[in-house]
Amino acid sequence: MANANSPKLIFRQLFEKDSGTYTYFLFDSATMEGLIIDPVKEQFDQSLHYLEELGVELKYVIDTHVHADHVTSSGMFREVTGAKCVFGNPAGIECADILLQDGDDLEFGHFNLKTIATPGHTDACTSFYTEGRLFTGDSLLIRGCGRTDFQSGDPEKLFESISQKIYAYPDDTLVYPGHDYLGRTVTSIREEKAYNPRIGSGQTLKNFVQIMNNLDLPKPNLIDEAVPLNIQCGYSLQLGHVNEDNFTMHDLYKIFENLKSTERIIDVRTPKEYSQGHVPSSLNIPMGVEKSFLEELSSYQRIFVYCHSGRRAQTVYTILGMKGLGNVICINSSGMTDWINAGFPVEH
Ligand SMILES: [Fe+2]
Repeated sequence: MANANSPKLIFRQLFEKDSGTYTYFLFDSATMEGLIIDPVKEQFDQSLHYLEELGVELKYVIDTHVHADHVTSSGMFREVTGAKCVFGNPAGIECADILLQDGDDLEFGHFNLKTIATPGHTDACTSFYTEGRLFTGDSLLIRGCGRTDFQSGDPEKLFESISQKIYAYPDDTLVYPGHDYLGRTVTSIREEKAYNPRIGSGQTLKNFVQIMNNLDLPKPNLIDEAVPLNIQCGYSLQLGHVNEDNFTMHDLYKIFENLKSTERIIDVRTPKEYSQGHVPSSLNIPMGVEKSFLEELSSYQRIFVYCHSGRRAQTVYTILGMKGLGNVICINSSGMTDWINAGFPVEH
């Protein structure tokens, strides 16, 4: 039965007005693990700040396809947070950490994001489903669909993807597109089947192909700049201090046993998570407020930063590094669960 501590799926939608792009944040309220779909370069600082404020442990940064109308910030998010860059498999993107196949699940906390290969707008377009919501990228748009005249686009494939795969979801499924240029934020399978002028439920393949092959649209403004960047996961922040130590909670335990007065262990989870059990004598500085503790944090010779699974620690490590702190050791490949499972002492 649901209670106050049951994990909830937290969902947020951001809009980038120049390219009309929607970015989606999804995370688990209990573990704070989450993901981003289609982040835009221009909104990187704002989005990172937002993730920090909320304390989200970013596991995946997903591009629904190689965008031609804006530059992704997936690579920048990976550099700061350690999240994995994710694309659909036919994209063949060398910068990707994960290339998804149709049907693959991406787990975040207690939730799953299901991969639905929906080629047609491009050959690598991927849609996603979780908890009554579909994220359709540029495959199905509100009262429209993605164009099929470049990037290996194919109207026959798009027809099949929408009519066979997307429309197979229940009518009341909410549909969140990759773009909208008229201020609409969400639709449903029922609405699109009934009112989509290009591909409503009564549309034939022949008519659809006829429409798509005669749209006569101008070339997207940014295509020549955006595509070469996006196949590299966008720009690099060139941080130059990427953490590759793979420091674990077992390593932290050895430090903990002989902790010096010049060293401090920092728990960057939420106060609620901290109160449910933490490393004894650790200090709780939740992700998002670490910058206001710069003076205190820099007064130690070494600080050890941990969280639930390593992603928030990685984010704080990078942000403090950008602020000039060189004394941070980040437990980036495990977290509090491993500490508890190992039977190490826990303070409440
Ligand atoms: Fe697109």
